[in-house]
Amino acid sequence: MSGTNIKIAFLFLISVLLASCNRDRNNPGWDYFPDMFYSTAYESFTKNPNFADSMTMRVPVAGTVPCGFTPFEYTLDPESRIKAGKDLVNPFLSDSDLLLRGKAVYATFCIGCHGISGKGDGHLFASKLYPLKPRSLVADNAVKLHDGEIFHSITLGFGSMGAHGSQIRPEDRWKVILYIRKLQKEANLDSGIKK
Ligand code: HEC
Repeated sequence: MSGTNIKIAFLFLISVLLASCNRDRNNPGWDYFPDMFYSTAYESFTKNPNFADSMTMRVPVAGTVPCGFTPFEYTLDPESRIKAGKDLVNPFLSDSDLLLRGKAVYATFCIGCHGISGKGDGHLFASKLYPLKPRSLVADNAVKLHDGEIFHSITLGFGSMGAHGSQIRPEDRWKVILYIRKLQKEANLDSGIKK
């Protein structure tokens, strides 16, 4: 092929490539072999003529509870936390697998504020990114908290601390409590050694 032919072939290729571009982002262009691309079922956010409110996604029937979901019938006030402390019992007994999970959850959701050893000296507070002093989870008053009270604080928040109920599954909340108990034991051992 001569040099001119190569140039012509190249220009042709470029013009074909450019012509295939489409600036209209609402148009998928030409569908080649759509196969099962278009769902025949109603998609979550599409209108649905089968229901009076035309919503495809349905809300749960009043008074029903989804499978595997335990309602949490407490409110964000000290009395309710005390009640949770009396009513709720940790369904798990500490073992190494549960502690490992508890540690992972703690490292994801709590360590930033409450610190590696639970003393309330996490990076967010130490670096002044977060202005409010997180409580120590290994101090005497935290040791005295019932598991249910800690569960209440994780679920609904406590004072200026935000709620974590929508981010951490109930079983993981109990596991993180097992891990906090472990931190408390370690803190007591530490202070024992120093004495
Ligand atoms: C953004 C920072 C932040 C995060 C993240 C955070 N906390 Fe807190 N936590 C606080 C602060 C601040 C307080 C004290 C609030 C107050 O006194 O108003 C607190 C208080 C608590 C208390 C109450 C302690 C007591 O003495 O009554 C518990 C229990 C607790 N946090 C557990 C946790 C656990 C478990 C996690 C992780 C699932 C967590 N927190 C995540 C900042 C945080």
